[in-house]
Amino acid sequence: MPLELVQGDIAAETSCALVTAANAQLAGGGGVDGVIHRAAGPELLGAIRVIGSTPTGSAVITPAFNLSGQGVKHVIHAVGPIWRGGGQGEAARLAGAYHRALELASEAGCRSVSFPAISTGVYGYPLAAALDVAVGTIQVYLAAHPELHVRLVLFDRAALSAAQQVLDRY
Ligand code: APR
Repeated sequence: MPLELVQGDIAAETSCALVTAANAQLAGGGGVDGVIHRAAGPELLGAIRVIGSTPTGSAVITPAFNLSGQGVKHVIHAVGPIWRGGGQGEAARLAGAYHRALELASEAGCRSVSFPAISTGVYGYPLAAALDVAVGTIQVYLAAHPELHVRLVLFDRAALSAAQQVLDRY
């Protein structure tokens, strides 16, 4: 199934897995992570505390707790890089976070997964460059895993239109 771009709140998604933009300490946070933690309930923080930490460019998976009421089974906590100008391996780490999250969704038996634009908020990754990595990584994965339905959830209209421009180039 092709990559789908949507505008909205990722916490309203009904995919099998929702991806959140976490930090390497798995400490919980604000932004999209805060939204997903509020929707999933306090057990989500307990579940990632047990895991402890994960390197930048990777991801871990937990149950979705209260989000199961809307059909979500898993939350995937993906850690994108902090933007430091682009010469510190940011693109490879961002691609790694998307790729590992996609693998975890597949390994969990999911046929659908929703992503936010990882690293484009507090972590300061320029939106167009981050969306280029996101769309490219997702498209390569989908070519080998056509059974997966991926939704990239953009928070506002500007981000949606930037993502559409990137997707149009593929
Ligand atoms: N639904 C979809 N996207 C959202 C939502 C939402 N409800 N809320 C925010 N966003 C978008 C932001 O507009 C931004 O484009 O998610 C993107 C990622 O922003 P952040 O949540 O700030 O994530 P990131 O830049 O990866 O920073 C991660 O922030 O919250 C902390 O613990 C987290 O330390 C980590 C850091």
